[in-house]
Amino acid sequence: MQRSLGTCYYPEHWPEDIWPEDARRMVEAGLTWVRIGEFAWSRLEPEPGRLDFDWLDRAIAVLGGAGMKVVLGTPTATPPRWMLARHPDMLALDPMGQPRKFGARRHYCFSHRGYLDECCRIVGLLADRYGANPHVAAWQTDNEYGCHDTVLSYSDAARTGFRDWLAQKYQSPQALNRAWGNVFWSMEYRSFDEIDLPNLTVTEPNPAHVLDFRRYASEQVVAFNRAQVEILRRHTRAPVAHNYMGRITDFDHYKVGADLDIASWDSYPIGFLSDRLEADAAHKTAFLRQGDPDFQAFHHDLYRSVGRGRWWVMEQQPGPVNWAPWNPAPLPGMVRLWTWEAFAHGAEAVCYFRWRQAPFGQEQMHAGLLRPDSAPAPGLAEAMAVARDLPQAPKAGCCPGDVALVFDYESAWAWAAQPQGADFDYFRLVFAWYRALRRLGLNIDILPPDAPDLSQWKLVLAPGLFTLAAAMRAALPGCGGTVLFGPRANASTPDFRIPLPLPPALPGLDACVSRVESLPPGVSVPLEGGGRFVHWAEDIAGTALASLRRADGTAAMMGDGAVRYLAGWPDDPTLRDILRGLCAEHGIATMDLPAALRLRDTPGLRFWFNHGTETLHHAGQSFAPVSVTKAPNA
Ligand code: GAL
Repeated sequence: MQRSLGTCYYPEHWPEDIWPEDARRMVEAGLTWVRIGEFAWSRLEPEPGRLDFDWLDRAIAVLGGAGMKVVLGTPTATPPRWMLARHPDMLALDPMGQPRKFGARRHYCFSHRGYLDECCRIVGLLADRYGANPHVAAWQTDNEYGCHDTVLSYSDAARTGFRDWLAQKYQSPQALNRAWGNVFWSMEYRSFDEIDLPNLTVTEPNPAHVLDFRRYASEQVVAFNRAQVEILRRHTRAPVAHNYMGRITDFDHYKVGADLDIASWDSYPIGFLSDRLEADAAHKTAFLRQGDPDFQAFHHDLYRSVGRGRWWVMEQQPGPVNWAPWNPAPLPGMVRLWTWEAFAHGAEAVCYFRWRQAPFGQEQMHAGLLRPDSAPAPGLAEAMAVARDLPQAPKAGCCPGDVALVFDYESAWAWAAQPQGADFDYFRLVFAWYRALRRLGLNIDILPPDAPDLSQWKLVLAPGLFTLAAAMRAALPGCGGTVLFGPRANASTPDFRIPLPLPPALPGLDACVSRVESLPPGVSVPLEGGGRFVHWAEDIAGTALASLRRADGTAAMMGDGAVRYLAGWPDDPTLRDILRGLCAEHGIATMDLPAALRLRDTPGLRFWFNHGTETLHHAGQSFAPVSVTKAPNA
């Protein structure tokens, strides 16, 4: 598969007479893909049942005729205003019970059956009309499920759906009461109709109730997507994708991905650094115009797993965005660097958002490849530079990871329901482990929690894994080396109870966590040899070997065989030391990379990325500021 570039285009935003020139310039820039249509419902169906697809026919003909391949989006993220008159109760309600009103986008509740039917209707019409169109070479369902906090809705439709879901799961209110432990605070129910959604309670709701609601909500996203995919598949053989977002954990992406051919995601490195990353001010300043050196890579690896090997960047930041608290411009070279980084992690395509900056609407301050006056914006030249280099680049693909890291959506929901310490965030925990591995110069594969086969990695890491899935338990004896479980792993039953025997209760490891504590900022637990635990520490004991100890001599990590357990949240240098030691034990070569330098191996080539503003020296090589260096891969 050859790597390719693309862009996101909104023909409905521009006079028709400039479409041919736009298409010509896209081709001239070396772009292959153009994604269109995902917000165009009000132009496709201006009145209920009055369809106008002629303009889209012409847009596809112009773009396709010029040589572009079209990704056609289903427009279901932006129901037109008339939809609300037909379905006044289709809006999601926020946790305070307030409707999330019309006037932006994603104003729908995933549980609303009437809206789902409308979506199936418009998707069916589009699929029927364009399913066999030779220019439509891929499809995108909806747009960024979960963006703007839109998975959880406390609407009547959600309550009804949740009650049905619970009735199917538990069969009787007594079984539900037992599973949730509702004898606590006299929360017992006599019928499923008495059960409400877990919002607006006087103090925290039962975490078991919350977790089931989160599972239910995630399944609504899966079902909503699946309904669209099933319709598309009846009309087209083109691959179907969805564009996921950064650090959205409210639904199980693996389960949505199982119905799709390609996972894609929307990469806005500078926006993400500013608005969704815990980091100190010095880090945010150092990477202000580059984005965090690991955040994009983490999602590249995650979505490669979600897409079972096939993944794209559907939207790549090409200049300043509009939606973060501050929106600095990328340093020269960053657009090119981000693009190559995605390719090095195995992306098949990278599409820039958007072709031309819109002079109207919410995103008028968001850069495109072109300025609003159609002159080139700085990102265009960098996209074109990548396009020029692509024909010489080896085909898409990346090497198998040196290590694997488990990422589990349910764990994110569980620990959000019961953090026990304000800093205990599951994404933050796993991301800290990912970053440590990257600083050690490793290639990382991300695994779902039910990965059935661990034999290809000498080291598998599973911090914070809420409950050990049966599939992974079964895979443990066949692991290729060591599986290191981290703090709070297997700490709960699926019903959200403390298991007996006490955690971690891992096969082949006699160890028991007898007490846990969370630590406020500035407080840490010292370890022997100078490291420390921050945020979280556990008392652990048993007959397993203590392979790391606290300064007071008690165990901090247990086990020396295939299954081990780390009983705390190490700070970054400590974590690197621990992981470096484990790698050495398993013959996995590591290095100590400077804070801004990263690598990714592909078959034949090692890519080096200097995200920093200084020349860096490592192992006899020099890396210019903001640069991509390709070297033969040993
Ligand atoms: C994405 C979204 C696009 C656009 C972009 C702006 O989240 O999919 O439609 O809004 O952000 O950065």
